Amino acid sequence: MCGIVGYIGEKQAIPIMLCGLEKLEYRGYDSAGIAVIENNKLKVFKTKGRINNLKELLNNNGYNSSMGIGHTRWATHGKPSDINAHPHSSNSNKFAVVHNGIIENYLDLKEELIKKGVKFISETDTEVIAQLLEYYDTGNFVDTVFSVVSKLQGAFSIGIICKDNPDELIAVKKDSPLIIGLGDGENYIASDIPAILSKTRKIYRLDDEEIAVIKKDKINIYNFNKEIVYKNVFTVDWDITSAEKMGYEHFMMKEIMEQPKAVRDTIYPRIKNNKIIFDQLSLSENDIKNLNRIYIVACGSAYHVGCVAKYTIEKIAKIPVEVDFASEFRYRKPLLNKNDLIIIISQSGETADSLAALRESKKNGVKVLSIVNVVGSTIANESDNIIYTWAGPEIAVATTKAYSAQLVVIYLLALYMADKLGTISNDIYTDYINELLKLPDKIESILKRKDELIDFCKIYFNSRDIFFIGRNVDYAVCLEGSLKLKEVSYAHSEAYAAGELKHGPISLIENDVPVIALATQDDLFYKMLSNIKEVKARGAAIFSIAVEGNTKIEQVSDYNFYIPTTCDIMLPSLSVIPLQFISYYVALYKNCDIDKPRNLAKSVTVE
Ligand code: F6R
Repeated sequence: MCGIVGYIGEKQAIPIMLCGLEKLEYRGYDSAGIAVIENNKLKVFKTKGRINNLKELLNNNGYNSSMGIGHTRWATHGKPSDINAHPHSSNSNKFAVVHNGIIENYLDLKEELIKKGVKFISETDTEVIAQLLEYYDTGNFVDTVFSVVSKLQGAFSIGIICKDNPDELIAVKKDSPLIIGLGDGENYIASDIPAILSKTRKIYRLDDEEIAVIKKDKINIYNFNKEIVYKNVFTVDWDITSAEKMGYEHFMMKEIMEQPKAVRDTIYPRIKNNKIIFDQLSLSENDIKNLNRIYIVACGSAYHVGCVAKYTIEKIAKIPVEVDFASEFRYRKPLLNKNDLIIIISQSGETADSLAALRESKKNGVKVLSIVNVVGSTIANESDNIIYTWAGPEIAVATTKAYSAQLVVIYLLALYMADKLGTISNDIYTDYINELLKLPDKIESILKRKDELIDFCKIYFNSRDIFFIGRNVDYAVCLEGSLKLKEVSYAHSEAYAAGELKHGPISLIENDVPVIALATQDDLFYKMLSNIKEVKARGAAIFSIAVEGNTKIEQVSDYNFYIPTTCDIMLPSLSVIPLQFISYYVALYKNCDIDKPRNLAKSVTVE
């Protein structure tokens, strides 16, 4: 994910900022840059690629400045390139800006400025901030920042410098982390503690909707209403490794906890006036009306998103969907038709089998739409259409937040298609949108209850086999729960469609074998109760997940976890969360290498 660092003091700013950016490298990035003010001139150095490339660029230029802002970029709006790298400066080179997050209304703001004659050079949402600062410049740096910030919607942490104010650095925070590091005659800003931990342990944590005006020996913090805010100094007592994980023991836990943000960032910018908007989707209403069939092709967890998608798209958009493992699809010679659509789902955008399936489909003249997390990845580059998940970089090998972001893209896409095809009424469409907007908070409410899952994991972590059962989308989520568990805890685990149990698998059930049962679907609830009874009668220890209010589940279960209510199609986003925690805790109690399970790689670039 993008990283911010900034410095104001008396030392050379650039080596300090480079050192800070290096400390943020672990988070993943595709370009890096720095802006300083030197002799009342704004200088920007930025480049695609590694921090070493930036160092080379700087060595060739020479510098002498004691304040500046730096950034590592993880592309969201616009591909990784020198031009799209941060900092972004305004046209006359007066302001420079680094930014983490997403400006949701950037297209509207950009259009407005273009109409007024402002020229843009990058594809980013961030450049809008720099150009707004210049267009609405009052001559007073602080006032100008306040007026521009009031126009921005979305999530953002921002560092700003202005060539006429070399003794001031401004930081803005809303829904994206930003801290101020406190030094002696010098101060820092950073998106994450590791960036400044070698310089200071004393920090101010900015809260949402706050603006800090930072000088080398003075800091004023205001809320968005321009009222002064007083902060307590927080002393960091973490070492660098736990600071990288923001105090969590593992990246997997950190990423599980980041899911409300990943889901919010993926959904919110795509809903305007209660309608779903996909920028740059060249799938016309006619293309959608003429669709014959959708093939969803992916590997591992991304394939499991495809399994949910089949139920979702068929249910609300009424388009037939087939789901294939990419490794099977590429060799099975599917009977493709030019009115079919291939959807490739991939976090990394580099998975060899998924890429081969994409190329095979294009060779057959079939359009490919990809759902990808890494901007500029090969799958993204070669697809006819892309919808990005904005989950940020995932470091743990086992995917959690990217899976959740992929799920919500599926809901968005299914609803978008259903709307164009008229397969759902306007009222139902609006109800779905309202529920979609509430999902991040509902996920958050489950995260707060993670401790409820610990007892079950403490008792059963050493079980040889653990089974998952469910029907319909619950079955699709069981597949993911089971994969996650075996991946990180090495427990043998299988997921079964609950109705299939008596056709064979039930012979595996014996005394005290844990069975995790998902019973979230109202119309299938009583059928699930019967299936749970079947395994319970054979001695299984039952852990059930049901929607709050469905207390009858307690009659058949040994352990229960309730998820909040939401509409039928979005339940997977909630039911998967306890399963992620169960995998995590089982692996923790077994002392497994949670972030880097044996034999696995984050990106599988070989067949
Ligand atoms: C499971 C997991 C893998 C990936 C699979 C596809 O936790 O991470 O199963 O989902 O290797 O990878 P991408 O999504 O990068 O194509």
